[in-house]
Amino acid sequence: MGKSEVRDFWDAASCGEALYLPSADRAGYEEQARVRYRLEPCIAELAAFEAARGRRVLEIGVGLGADHQRFASAGADLTGIDLTARAVEHTARRLRAFGLTSRLAVGDAENLTFADGSFDIVYSWGVVHHSPDTVRAIAEIRRVLRDGGEARIMIYHKWSLVGFMLWTRYALCCLRPWRSLTWIYARFLESPGTKAYSVRAARRLFADFSEVRIRTVLSHADLLESGAGQRHRGWLLSLAARLWPRRLLRRCFPGRGLYMLIQARK
Ligand SMILES: C[S@@+](CC[C@H](N)C(=O)[O-])C[C@H]1O[C@@H](n2cnc3c(N)ncnc32)[C@H](O)[C@@H]1O
Repeated sequence: MGKSEVRDFWDAASCGEALYLPSADRAGYEEQARVRYRLEPCIAELAAFEAARGRRVLEIGVGLGADHQRFASAGADLTGIDLTARAVEHTARRLRAFGLTSRLAVGDAENLTFADGSFDIVYSWGVVHHSPDTVRAIAEIRRVLRDGGEARIMIYHKWSLVGFMLWTRYALCCLRPWRSLTWIYARFLESPGTKAYSVRAARRLFADFSEVRIRTVLSHADLLESGAGQRHRGWLLSLAARLWPRRLLRRCFPGRGLYMLIQARK
């Protein structure tokens, strides 16, 4: 599955647009941010927005721009790209509405146009697993970081409750239990070709970095705490959300989440 399919998917609606953005103006972006950070408190933990003051930050895959706004408010020297014009337009409109600035452009994680060593921090939440050549995107992230610079990246974790639910729905219920998680994520999670990684595979992806710290966390999707996603709705999911044993899952499977948070130094 190619990059144009990925672009078409995210150009139809940016991430969270259909579910959480009531209007493309200041009030709408505020509301989207309120829901985002309530559902995903681990974003702020990984991004460490306030610590970015005065530092050269590149965000890859800005989407609706909520995290970009936080970096801008914190006083980062900020650059942002996204594969889609739609996301760049949302983020530019959002920053204008709040009187903030950033260098924004349509761009591709696999072919960054920045010189070697341009940034202190490269941040990317839920993006490079959508790109067909994730290995190349991570090599590009390393290239544009200065020596000692830090990558803060979220990619999807393969052995997650979301994976289990998708496998139940698209393998077990289809009487095709041999369908692999890789095959299922690529077809049914988000944009075509989406990948998810084991911790070991993620360590291989970041093998050229030093001080690689990885942890997996339960997301709102694992806990069925939200509208689940752009592609998955319906009565069965609503019923499951009512019955989902969240406390038990948090206690017994804290690491079986979809989110893999990675901090790595060049
Ligand atoms: C799941 S959304 C995440 C957006 C945002 N980071 C967030 O957390 O809401 C994935 C985003 O990655 C972008 N994307 C996918 N492949 C990309 C690539 N190769 N280069 C840059 N952006 C890409 C998509 O256009 C989309 O906006």
